[in-house]
Amino acid sequence: MQIRNTAVRYGVAAQLFHWSIVVLIITQVILAEKADGLPLGPAKIAVLAQHKSVGMTIFMLAVVRLLWRFVNPVPPLPSGMPAWQRVAAHISHGALYALILITPLFGWLMSSARNFPVSWFGVFTFPDLVQPDKARYEFFHGAHELVAKTLVVIAIVHALAALKHQFLDRDGLLRRMLPVKPRQ
Ligand code: HEM
Ligand code: HEM
Repeated sequence: MQIRNTAVRYGVAAQLFHWSIVVLIITQVILAEKADGLPLGPAKIAVLAQHKSVGMTIFMLAVVRLLWRFVNPVPPLPSGMPAWQRVAAHISHGALYALILITPLFGWLMSSARNFPVSWFGVFTFPDLVQPDKARYEFFHGAHELVAKTLVVIAIVHALAALKHQFLDRDGLLRRMLPVKPRQ
């Protein structure tokens, strides 16, 4: 078991960060949909509290994940990958990193502007980032929705690209991010 990345594979730490954030983002979309279908009341507030706690977990994991990436270089893309795909991979990975920070940050700013506290599963409360203000709340509400949707769209394209590499190009790209033995 290799904790750190090697020259050809992602290590266990990078894999854990990647797949736990994937699961949590799917959870976020399900919770947001659930809250959307509920009338304003205690049930909706409870689902949104879960959404906020899970979202702040993603934020903290994303910060640690990026720090880990700085001290632990990632494996270079497989040789033989066309230049445009390299550029696309770098841009989409950069965008995904930015979005897993910005989306929860905008959610946090939205809640602060609405004067709703952001608690982490009732264990502790994050500080408010801005003064409550209706126009500010509306801005961050719209911004949170926009970046969340952008994140989902880029993640789907990214996942399809990974599957294409694995199953059509057969260059073993997906296996680099999975806890399976590399093919010889
Ligand atoms: C990566 C993390 C997150 C994702 C992918 C995400 C995604 C979403 C989505 C798709 C919606 C529905 C959009 C809409 O129709 O308005 C939503 C709503 C919401 N999110 Fe997040 N969110 C994340 C993090 C957070 C965080 C950290 C907070 C607060 C601390 C938060 C607070 C909210 C609130 C309060 C709503 C409901 C807005 C309303 O009143 O309609 N979100 N989120
Ligand atoms: C919300 C969903 C997702 C997010 C935010 C995300 C984010 C990322 C990021 C930021 C990287 C770059 C890692 C680095 O080099 O530091 C990456 C790599 C990767 N992702 Fe995802 N990902 C998501 C979903 C998926 C899914 C569903 C799959 C598989 C179907 C997948 C497969 C991969 C693979 C194979 C790599 C490694 C590419 C390489 O070998 O260079 N990802 N992902």
